[in-house]
Amino acid sequence: MKAIILSGGKGTRLRPLTHTGAKQLVPVANKPILWYGIEDLVSAGIIDIGIIISPETGAEVQAKTGNGERFGANISYILQEQPAGLAHAVKVAQPFLGDSSFIMYLGDNLVQTDLKIFLDEFKLKQLDALTLLCPVANPSAFGVARVDENGRVLQLIEKPKVPPSNLALVGIYLFNTSVHEAIANIQPSARGELEITDAIQYLIDQSRKVEAQKIQGWWLDTGKKDDLLEANRVILDTCLVSANYGDIDAHSQISGRVQIGENTKVINSTIRGPVIIGENCHIENCFIGPYSSIADDATLIHADLEHSVLLQGAKITGIQQRIVDSLIGQRAQIKAAPQRPKALRFMIGDDSQVEVI
Ligand code: G1P
Repeated sequence: MKAIILSGGKGTRLRPLTHTGAKQLVPVANKPILWYGIEDLVSAGIIDIGIIISPETGAEVQAKTGNGERFGANISYILQEQPAGLAHAVKVAQPFLGDSSFIMYLGDNLVQTDLKIFLDEFKLKQLDALTLLCPVANPSAFGVARVDENGRVLQLIEKPKVPPSNLALVGIYLFNTSVHEAIANIQPSARGELEITDAIQYLIDQSRKVEAQKIQGWWLDTGKKDDLLEANRVILDTCLVSANYGDIDAHSQISGRVQIGENTKVINSTIRGPVIIGENCHIENCFIGPYSSIADDATLIHADLEHSVLLQGAKITGIQQRIVDSLIGQRAQIKAAPQRPKALRFMIGDDSQVEVI
């Protein structure tokens, strides 16, 4: 069994962060989203992993993630020249996949589930395809499945206006080699992409064994700012372990689950977990409230932050109001004059959003 993780795409919904970086590398609790998927696969015993990359962000994904050694995996990189659809990605990965059955994992999804259960089911029943489903409130935003009482998939529709159920396709699929024949027989959809849902529908129409399983845990699509903040909240809530490798002075107070990285200085500040702070940060005269993730090399002086994600090297100084529900990019700076500011001065990239509330 092999796996491919899709890590291309333009990440339009997370602009401006994704103007300069891959959406799959945006951190949740200080770890790139993509790495959660790799770890899930490795815990299920799958170590031959191909990551599908795009010309725009492939080099960054590769440089950050490496050859897999840190995960105990063998990672290969497969270039998909254009974002021509999920089924197109499988086509491009065919030389890597060979005759192997495989899991396809969308690299911007976070799923709390044990993949081993689905792997065993797939093997035991000798299925051609197994899709994972999750009930959602807005099925029209996803691929949607109609399933019979035995778990057999009757129909799959991509982004239906009138959804046949509330069961969305989670971005994890298990296939045997029959999917390659299916992909060779489908045409691009109205949005010009080779859709994996059409390939699976082809398998259903050919009376192949296609089943679906509902996941028990949570599923978070991290495509937009609020989804990302929610993913950050859930991961900090469920996975964060307290640890302090930093330097906390006697005037600071730390409570709840808080993780602080090496060479980080905390001076005269209050940190109330769950909070994760990376390495080489400087936190001085601050309140850092629950559900905040602060990446390496960040500086916060005279700042008050809660339920927010700061990327590497971000700097916030002298802001009197509490900063909430915010996503602040790499090396971004927010600073105010020492006295109460009378004016606001901005230099903000395309697609940025600033709310003065
Ligand atoms: C893709 C799939 C869709 C699935 C979704 C899960 O959609 O085409 O069937 O439900 O991922 O995240 P996309 O994110 O490309 O719009």
